[in-house]
Amino acid sequence: MTLQDKRVVVIGGTSGIGLAVSKAFVEAGSHVLVASRSADKVEAAKSKIGSDAEGYVVDFRDEAALAVFFQSVGPFHHLVVTAGDGVMGPFPSLPDSAVRTAFDSKFWGQYVTVRAALPFIDASGSITLTSGVYGARPPKGASTLAAINSAVEGLARGLACDLAPIRVNVVSPGLVDTPIYSGMDDESRQGMFRAVAAQLLVQHIAKPEEIAQAYVYLASNTFTTGTTLSIEGGALLS
Ligand SMILES: NC(=O)c1ccc[n+]([C@@H]2O[C@H](COP(=O)([O-])OP(=O)(O)OC[C@H]3O[C@@H](n4cnc5c(N)ncnc54)[C@H](OP(=O)(O)O)[C@@H]3O)[C@@H](O)[C@H]2O)c1
Repeated sequence: MTLQDKRVVVIGGTSGIGLAVSKAFVEAGSHVLVASRSADKVEAAKSKIGSDAEGYVVDFRDEAALAVFFQSVGPFHHLVVTAGDGVMGPFPSLPDSAVRTAFDSKFWGQYVTVRAALPFIDASGSITLTSGVYGARPPKGASTLAAINSAVEGLARGLACDLAPIRVNVVSPGLVDTPIYSGMDDESRQGMFRAVAAQLLVQHIAKPEEIAQAYVYLASNTFTTGTTLSIEGGALLS
């Protein structure tokens, strides 16, 4: 069950949850390879993660680029995917094109990444995908995210059967303070964080490090597969 000296690929490992996941695997003794679209983010992440982290520029929606990426990476043990863009908006007026773009990223990106990674993942290894609490408890305007997150969780249950003995699981985070919200102005973001925190049983929104532990657990526990691990501060009960 040790992660010592394991090779771990984190797609989306240059920011937010993925960056914290990468640091957590390094702390567990793994060799981490991070990938995302922006060369600047990849370079910055490598120095933040430290150790001898490797970084690659790749868009996980691009199957040809993924094939080249995994060929360069070679054999490895654990795959984590935290990349993915969603979309929010009222169902009647949200354009289909925006919904399809979100599916192309968060659902299809994860789907094609797993397929491209398969020839290189060790049979004793694992795959951990990312959904989100809106899959189980969507607020108004989150029907697309509810659908995508549920689809990712269903996909992982199917893949756990199809790809065994490789284990396949999902982390479903609640609200986490990450750069995903950097498009909002400071006041609105802090207001949203305060409002959500007040509704949660734990009375705070998550730091990325609180979520990262779930990915480390799922990679290391050799009896866990087909599972969605919800880390949402009690959002499902409050
Ligand atoms: N933060 C939350 O409150 C929250 C809650 C529930 C679920 N989630 C889910 O958790 C996951 C991570 O979110 P986060 O908050 O950590 O976001 P984040 O800080 O924005 O990080 C997203 C990462 O994914 C990469 N990425 C995005 N699109 C990509 C693409 N097409 N190809 C390759 N890499 C790509 C980004 O780097 P580049 O820009 O360089 O590509 C970045 O490294 C997402 O699936 C999100 O939906 C987040």
